[in-house]
Amino acid sequence: MRIQAAAGQVLDVANEVAVVLCPQGDLPDSLAAMIEAGDFAGRPAQVATLYPRGALSPTRVVLVGLGDADTLDAERIRAAAATGVRAAREFGSASIAIGFLGDVGLAADQVGEALAIGLELGAYRFLRHKTGLPDGETFEIEEVTVLTDQVGAVDAVGAGLASGSIIAAGVNLARDLVNTPGADKTPPMLADRAVELGERIASVTVTVLDEVELAEQGFGGILAVGTGSDSPPRFIIMEYGADLTDVPTVCLVGKGLTFDSGGLNIKPYEGMLNMKNDMGGSAAVFGAVQAAAQLELPVHIVGLVPSAENMPSGRSYRPGDIVTTLSGKTIEVLNTDAEGRVILSDGLFYAQRYEPDAIVELSTLTGAVIVALGNVATGVMATDQDLADRILAAGQAAGDRGWQLPLWDEYHDIIKGDVGDLKNLGGPAGGAITAGAFLAAFAGDYPFVHLDIAGTAWLDKPITPYQYRGGTGAGVRMVVEYLRSLAS
Ligand code: BES
Ligand code: MN
Ligand code: ZN
Repeated sequence: MRIQAAAGQVLDVANEVAVVLCPQGDLPDSLAAMIEAGDFAGRPAQVATLYPRGALSPTRVVLVGLGDADTLDAERIRAAAATGVRAAREFGSASIAIGFLGDVGLAADQVGEALAIGLELGAYRFLRHKTGLPDGETFEIEEVTVLTDQVGAVDAVGAGLASGSIIAAGVNLARDLVNTPGADKTPPMLADRAVELGERIASVTVTVLDEVELAEQGFGGILAVGTGSDSPPRFIIMEYGADLTDVPTVCLVGKGLTFDSGGLNIKPYEGMLNMKNDMGGSAAVFGAVQAAAQLELPVHIVGLVPSAENMPSGRSYRPGDIVTTLSGKTIEVLNTDAEGRVILSDGLFYAQRYEPDAIVELSTLTGAVIVALGNVATGVMATDQDLADRILAAGQAAGDRGWQLPLWDEYHDIIKGDVGDLKNLGGPAGGAITAGAFLAAFAGDYPFVHLDIAGTAWLDKPITPYQYRGGTGAGVRMVVEYLRSLAS
């Protein structure tokens, strides 16, 4: 979708579908004349289509509610833009116009960014495996013109549209990766996707370690989890900005478990059904690295993805096994289904060699975080409060929210091993936090934040108008906003 800014009034566009974002309140007479009083009040997500039949220049006017103008924020603009694009797509017009009724009390670049994100995320579909759909169901809008009545704001809106399109492309890349069936994204295939990303974006350098190199270098955690699968594990390194001077270094570590059957501690039907999403953390790293590189952020970013498939077989790692990780620390395996922390132990330890200013790790790690926070917020656990605060603020601003849980010493005590250094199971109480405490043990003294996206990376039921059933790209917007906050 090409999205561009232009000066003008959205209701003045000729022969087009005009999407008009309206705050709550009375409509101007020209529109009120075309609708039954009371049918449209401008409430969030409210939609009405008007047919001007020559009374106004657009062919159709799609009214979308923004809610109360005084409390309008970027999130409601994203939601309204998504609602608008989905409604407008029905009309099969390759280009549409979008604009606001009245003033928006937000900076023009912020408005542009929110619009582009809402439009691109709202228009997203995963149709790769659908055959024989009627044209109407595969139709895509090619061009969107965002109209602003303040001529001086066109450049600022345009800049926001550009950054928003980049961020949305990162989110949609993550969604595509999560929605891809496990059979089509085994660890070697996921690594190929990273290599492709590096070929597509010249400023990103990609290195992949295969199972032989993992063995030579002692990645015991990744290897242990991966042995049960016929698809060998990989470790993926995506680096951007190594040549920049005087910039912070941030390691992004993402769980790349391409399918989690549970292993020998096999999951039941409901638990396994959507476990292709268990690489949602790595998908967020792909998306964030891509977006940060395209935004040319002044930050050195190292994306690290331990990738394995957790399968039951005669070669699988077992409950009771002791795994010697890359760090040298040993893990006592109590449950093969608590595999994420086992592969991440190697990824986090590896991150230390970059002496990063922060390690930001994303993983679909625990069912327990869903019990705690539902599907609305990502679980945030950190060893550094400044880092946690920045991440929380970034998530709030970007509409990709997190909520903090504590990582106190008491939680670390729960996962001390019996015969090994750490055990990979803390029991059902505080399960999200003991998992986070486990990970922190491998991040050294570097500021570390763990983002448990188990509840947010995948939705069976969408929560906002720009979401669909399936992968959400959770973490991409939060992390990109965080990286941007370091740059300013
Ligand atoms: N990948 C799962 C966690 C998960 C659950 C992600 C639901 C997304 C949705 C993880 O590997 C897992 O199996 N966790 C277990 C840990 C338990 C065995 C300690 C869990 O949460 O049940
Ligand atoms: Mn598991
Ligand atoms: Zn898992």
